[in-house]
Amino acid sequence: MKVLVLNGPNLNRLGKREPHIYGYETLQDVEQRLHDIAGEKATIICKQSNHEGQLVDWLHEAADEQYTGIIINPAAYTHTSIALHDAIAGIDVPVIEVHISNVHKREAFRHHSYLAPACLGQIVGLGTFGYELALRTFLEKGETSC
Ligand code: DQA
Repeated sequence: MKVLVLNGPNLNRLGKREPHIYGYETLQDVEQRLHDIAGEKATIICKQSNHEGQLVDWLHEAADEQYTGIIINPAAYTHTSIALHDAIAGIDVPVIEVHISNVHKREAFRHHSYLAPACLGQIVGLGTFGYELALRTFLEKGETSC
């Protein structure tokens, strides 16, 4: 089983970036936890980009490389990107959208996700634990049933 973990713009600065909203854990901390949870059960590939097209390319590649699932925090592109919606809609790999903060308690422009209608599900506002929940979903559901 292979799971791709994609993080969008500014999440490379997790831990330093607005810690009152996103906490003090770094992206490396989060990724290490996912590797630890997956253990022998899944290969976890983690990628981060500040560029929309790069995220689109990685979604396409994950489909061609037959990943079991994709966990994506699209960050600000959540609220703007029809391209990411279309990329997710156009691949067979199930995608779970994760947000660290509760976007619904924040500015109105964060309340809408272009990606969510194309995703298997969305996890919002549970801090970095959301990534773990998404991974556990794929581990539990296995290769077949997402
Ligand atoms: C975020 C929420 C987005 O609105 C914001 O642009 C981010 C992070 C989150 O994880 O809470 O960069 O996706």
